[in-house]
Parts: sequence; C-alpha cells; structure tokens
Amino acid sequence: MKHASQYQLYGCFGDRYDMHTPRHHYQHDHAFVIEEIQKNHEHARLLDIGCGSGVFLEKALQAGLDPIGLDPAAAMLQLAREKVGEERLHLMAMQDLEFQKEFHAIVSLSWSLNYAANVEELTDILRRIKRALLPGGQVFFQIAHAPHAPKAFADFFVDQEPGLGDAQDITFKYRFATRDFETLLAQYQFHCHSTGEYFEETHLLNVADAEMVAQIMRGLGFKNVKLLENHQGDPFQKTFNPFLIASLPFEK
Ligand SMILES: C[S@@+](CC[C@H](N)C(=O)[O-])C[C@H]1O[C@@H](n2cnc3c(N)ncnc32)[C@H](O)[C@@H]1O
Repeated sequence: MKHASQYQLYGCFGDRYDMHTPRHHYQHDHAFVIEEIQKNHEHARLLDIGCGSGVFLEKALQAGLDPIGLDPAAAMLQLAREKVGEERLHLMAMQDLEFQKEFHAIVSLSWSLNYAANVEELTDILRRIKRALLPGGQVFFQIAHAPHAPKAFADFFVDQEPGLGDAQDITFKYRFATRDFETLLAQYQFHCHSTGEYFEETHLLNVADAEMVAQIMRGLGFKNVKLLENHQGDPFQKTFNPFLIASLPFEK
C-alpha cells in the first residue's frame, strides 16, 4: 500500500492542493455536516480524519465548533496550519488513532477513510473512532462506493483554476473507475501552465463499498447508521460518493 505522502497529490505537490481544489468546492457538503453537528452541540469538540489542507476545519472553526484535524501528509498539514493554527493539528495516520471519549463528532470527508489498506484495517480504524467518541457522539463520513462508479475510465472532468498566473493557470483533471467491486481507481492530472509543472497518478481507494462499511459499523455497535445520496439528505440510490452517518448510544 502507498503511504499518503507517496502520492504526489498530497506529497511533493501537496502545497498546491488549495490551488486546484479551492475553499468553495464542496461548500454544500461542509455546510450540511456543520449544520447537523450543531443541531446537537453548538460548540462540539470535533475530529477531522484526513483533514488535508484544512478547508473543513477552517469552516467548522468559523461556525463556532472546536475542531482538530489529523493527516499523515506534512505538505497538506502546512496549508491547514495557515488556516487554523498548529495547535489544532496532528501529523499522524488514522491507523494510529488513540483518543479516548474525547469528541462529540468525528468526520472524514472526500474518501480519506478509503486510504485504509483493507477491510481488517478499516475495521480497526472504526473501532478506534468509536473509542474516541463521547457517548451520543456522531460520525459523518464520505465513503467511495465502487459498485456505483463507471466500469471503465471515461473522459476526464476538468477544472481550471487561477494558480500563480492567469485565471486558467492550473488545469486539474480527474476521473474514476471501478477496479473491482471494492476498489475505486481515481486518476488525477495536475498541470500548472505558468511553471510547466505536471504530474498524473492513479490512487487506489480501498474498501470502497459503503453498504459493507455501514454493515461493519452496525456490527461494532454504532446506531442510526444511514447512507445518504447527497448533502440534501436524499436516500442512497446511485452516487459513488455517499455520506455515511451514524451515532453512538448515550450511556445509561
Ligand atoms: C482527497 S483528500 C481529502 C482531504 C480533506 N478531507 C478534504 O475533504 O478536503 C484525502 C486525504 O486523506 C489523507 N490520508 C491518506 N492516508 C491517510 C491515513 N492513513 N490517515 C489519515 N489520512 C490519510 C491524505 O493525506 C489527504 O489529505
């Protein structure tokens, strides 16, 4: 398995992440999660697993939550540091989570959990997440779902963003395909025209079966485990990027 920083997207090009994926991307997903958490705790203590460049952490902090984030990619955390400060960040992998009953909510967005190597590893991470939650704590994950993804690569989606040069300095292309029913392939191409920098790589997103992950969570004692199609809360139907939400029971 590749370590996060061995992927150029998070490693040697990690410091360019906000250029191709700026703050406004996924703003509706972020707003949905923050709103749901604040229904229970206006100032919830929150952990963001695979927080990347800290876009969600920044919005959570601005909304009055008390967030911390972890990520094993140093270049990504450097961007997060500029947004929320060093004291809210941990340079570590989710496999090493050791918190005990500390958080009202734990989030993991944009398929960070799918960097687990296999089902056994993800199950162990979910156990650690459960231990890190306070009674009644909530989780909000975005899990890749390979059975709903295209069976073969089609045309790239193309984003043009202002980098260091003009409005279209950066071209970021991405596309997805199912390798098998539990693995999603994500192909990324980054091109910065003003500097001539270019890379392309394919990421392996493992345990990419949201129904199976939901089942594992039920087995571990999570309650109210639900899959949602989108930030509007529609029932899970055909997306390959569902939300998985769940909570722990309150202790009697
Ligand atoms: C697609 S990015 C998403 C970042 C952020 N959650 C967001 O929504 O903008 C995936 C993130 O997962 C992180 N990641 C990869 N392996 C990880 C691991 N073992 N533990 C925690 N995070 C990991 C990467 O470093 C990267 O920042």
